[in-house]
Amino acid sequence: MEKNPQNSIILAIESSCDDTSAAVLRGDRILSNVIASQKVHEQYGGVVPELASRAHQQNIVPVVDAAIKNAEIEKTDIDAVAFTRGPGLLGSLMVGVSFAKSFSQALNIPLIEVNHLQGHVLSHFIKENDESQVPQFPFICLLVSGGHTQILLLKSHFEMEVLGETIDDAAGEAIDKAAKIMDLGYPGGPIIDRLAKEGNPDAYQFATPNIPGNNYSFSGIKTSFLYFLRDRLAENPNYIEEHKADLCASIQKCIVGFLIKKLERAVKQSGVKQIAIAGGVSANSLLRSELERLGQRHHWKVFIPKFQFCTDNAAMVGIAGYFKYLNNDFADIALPPYAN
Ligand code: KG4
Ligand code: ZN
Repeated sequence: MEKNPQNSIILAIESSCDDTSAAVLRGDRILSNVIASQKVHEQYGGVVPELASRAHQQNIVPVVDAAIKNAEIEKTDIDAVAFTRGPGLLGSLMVGVSFAKSFSQALNIPLIEVNHLQGHVLSHFIKENDESQVPQFPFICLLVSGGHTQILLLKSHFEMEVLGETIDDAAGEAIDKAAKIMDLGYPGGPIIDRLAKEGNPDAYQFATPNIPGNNYSFSGIKTSFLYFLRDRLAENPNYIEEHKADLCASIQKCIVGFLIKKLERAVKQSGVKQIAIAGGVSANSLLRSELERLGQRHHWKVFIPKFQFCTDNAAMVGIAGYFKYLNNDFADIALPPYAN
């Protein structure tokens, strides 16, 4: 008997940066989502591409095995393999792409290529149970990750219009750089988020640039933060240590405030009444609470992803893969990955 495509079982692989992840979905339901985060980069204060691809090679087989085991399925139950084709680090992508191709050949099942950013946005459609609420089209999604900052208007699963975006650094990059200036460790986002909880967000005022329209710019914020601290450190070498929490709270408030301001502008202009956030920075506690407040203020319906679906994960690749599966949108075995 022919299987209903809505019950198809998809194995998804994500290896674009420094997390090796595999997930299994039945239709739009998540059965498993395994993530191996690479600790090796911490000591270098950023992702070292060569070390990342080596760690992916070590992780990929056990991570996929665990995803299949946790999903309580057999390999032969899998109907298709979805993989992140890009953007990302070439060497890292190669590992996931080659693995997905070999797996699909061995089982004689189709391959589905997924764009990493589309995966982040579509993570809102992952269902965990019957109560799972998903956005209705059209909706606006603020995509904020380590490499991208975009305000997107989603017209359907694969039709999106860019309403605004950063003209230089991404929001996550700016946060990570601020953390690096303070020597807090990598990735800086979660550390700043944690330290900010103990600090005064109004202790320091960092100006945001006057960028026209719905666009962002973050490189100036980072530079003024750097110069501000350089001057303070010249007077007191312990300045950062003594004011760490206030500095984190203030720079976080500056970046999140800017994100929300332009988002509000774009949403008002569009007339759309549903808003979402996605990508690693959507794990930020201030951004999450500010989005809630924005929604309440304007009576907009707000979608905030669960923490496990904010940062890089294969479940988001699986859900994007599922919608492509329904469209019979399969990838050729010869398809190469694409880098940043
Ligand atoms: O989406 P993601 O996992 O990877 C990319 O596709 O880039 O995003 C990673 C980014 C990093 O810049 C990291 O610092 C940031 O997300 N991030 C956070 C938080 N958790 C992760 N930024 C602020 N607050 C957080 N809680
Ligand atoms: Zn990502």
